[in-house]
This record gives sequence, structure tokens and C-alpha cells, in this order.
Amino acid sequence: MNLDGKVAVVTGAGRGLGRAYAEALAAAGARVVVNDLEGAQEVADAIGGVAAPGAVGSTETAEALVEAAVSAYGRLDVMVTNAGVLRDKVLWKMTDEDFDLVVATHLRGTFTCARAAAIRMREQGEGGRIVVVGSPAGQYGNFGQTNYAAAKAGIVAFARTWAMELGRANVTVNAIVPTAWTKMTETIPIYAPLVGRDEFPPEVRREHALGGPEDCAPLVVYLASDAAAGVTGQAIGIGGDRLSLYSHPAEVAHELRDGGWTADAIAEVFGSFPAQPVGVRLPELDLS
Ligand SMILES: NC(=O)c1ccc[n+]([C@@H]2O[C@H](COP(=O)([O-])OP(=O)(O)OC[C@H]3O[C@@H](n4cnc5c(N)ncnc54)[C@H](O)[C@@H]3O)[C@@H](O)[C@H]2O)c1
Repeated sequence: MNLDGKVAVVTGAGRGLGRAYAEALAAAGARVVVNDLEGAQEVADAIGGVAAPGAVGSTETAEALVEAAVSAYGRLDVMVTNAGVLRDKVLWKMTDEDFDLVVATHLRGTFTCARAAAIRMREQGEGGRIVVVGSPAGQYGNFGQTNYAAAKAGIVAFARTWAMELGRANVTVNAIVPTAWTKMTETIPIYAPLVGRDEFPPEVRREHALGGPEDCAPLVVYLASDAAAGVTGQAIGIGGDRLSLYSHPAEVAHELRDGGWTADAIAEVFGSFPAQPVGVRLPELDLS
């Protein structure tokens, strides 16, 4: 994959997945603007890019990131909205602050950065790429993640909406659903047996789709490339050895009733509908 001549912004790229995306984009030839609250300069120096530190969420930061790309490199081709934060609590313990920080960073940060990118890409008139970041929690729901699951589900809905709105401008918009061993996942209780391991067994890489951040980066490079010009509005999973495609939500059953439904009539048929599961479901992790 050759990204020579392309200019990318990656938010939250001071460590973890964002850093891996920035490194892989630069290795493929792109020039990269590295954003994070901290660590942006170090990553920018390591990959020969430009640092644009700051907290995503606000319009000011989003516009500053696009401006950083334009003033350093003259253009913007790829926006990767990766910055993220967790404040996990069950619903009845979640504070307004927990909710607002997660929504402001993920949902609002994705909105403001993608909007600033879309404005610039439409002005350039040469198409572009917006890669937004979902999560299995957003696809299925996850215990303790009211704020995060809602924000991540909303981000996938952004991708489907923006794929339509930006199609004429040849700007593709896709949601990636990554899974990787980072500061964000290393505290998940079922993964405690993996702490301190340099390599994960094939079962973990395949069934749990869990490896290092570098395992997820090739999807971002692919989506940024000319090879992915026809790919838009998709939710694509990657992690460890696994690449996957998520369905759009679809009707799985229906019944018709002339003149509409009564509560009693619904009660009569509802039991025949297959109950849909909730929550991320992973195989048991047995590393013995
Ligand atoms: N690790 C996984 O398995 C996984 C799974 C699903 C989704 N994700 C998503 O991938 C993205 C990266 O996660 P990660 O695992 O690398 O986590 P991480 O915590 O290692 O990295 C997140 C980075 O975002 C930065 N950040 C936080 N708030 C910011 C803000 N307001 N502005 C700018 N930067 C900010 C942090 O400083 C950090 O460097 C997140 O959106 C996360 O939700 C990760």
C-alpha cells in the first residue's frame, strides 16, 4: 500500500492504537499530524510527523487539527478519530461527569473532527477518507459501559449517515471496531491471565480477536488507500488474527396484522420472535 502524497490526522495517537495507526500510515508514505493530550510530540518525532496536542471534543481543537495538516503539508486526505477515554460504572453509579467526559471525547470529538475534515475535503474537491472508531461495546452493549457503549454505537451511526452525505464528494466514511492489548484493555478481568505475556496464543488472537495495536493498523492503512475507494458506510472489525464485517441492524422477524396492533395481540405473537442476546460474548479463556 502506497500512501505517498496523502496527509492524515490521527487523534489520540500518543500511545496505544492511535500510535500504531500513525506509525503505519507514516510507514506507508503518508504525512501524519499526531494529536493527543500527551505524547504527541514524541510520536511525531519518531515518525517524522507534526504534533498537534490538545483535547478533542471542541470545535476549536478539531479546526486546529485540520489547520495543522494544511499549514504543514498543504492539504488533508485522511481523518482518523481514535482518541478515547473510559469512565466505567453501572448506570446507577455513573455521574454526570463520567457520562459527559466520555460522550464529549468519543461522540462529540468524532463529530467535530469529522465535520472539520469534511469541510476541508469538500473544498479540496479530491475526495478523502474519514475513519471513525467503534467498539464491540457499541455493537452489543457492555456491562458498566453506559457512556462508552452509547457513544460507540452513535459513532457507527455517524459512519452510516456520513457515508451517504459525503458520497458525492468521494469522501468515504467507515467505522473500525478494533480490539487490542492496550492500557484500555489490560485491566479487563477476563484478560488477567494475559498480563505480562509477550505473545498471545492463537486461540486469543483468533477467537478473542486480541493481539497488539500493530495488528489493527493495516485496516486503517487499507481504508486510507486508493484500494478502498469503493468501501464506505461499513463497520469493520479487526484484532489479532481476525478481520470481520458487522451487519447493519436488520429486522430478524416480523408479523403483520390488518389495522395495526393491540397490546393483547402483541402479547400473543411476541413469544414467537427469537429473543436477541445482549452484551459482548466471548469464548471462555482457558490458558492452562
Ligand atoms: N483497545 C481495545 O481493545 C479497543 C476496543 C474497542 C475500541 N477501542 C477504541 O480505540 C481507541 C484507542 O484506544 P486504545 O485502546 O489505544 O486506548 P489508550 O487509552 O491506550 O489510548 C487512547 C489515547 O487517547 C488519548 N485521549 C484521551 N482523551 C483525549 C482527548 N480528549 N483528546 C485527545 N486525545 C485523547 C489518550 O491520552 C490516549 O493516548 C479508543 O477510541 C477506544 O475506545 C479500543
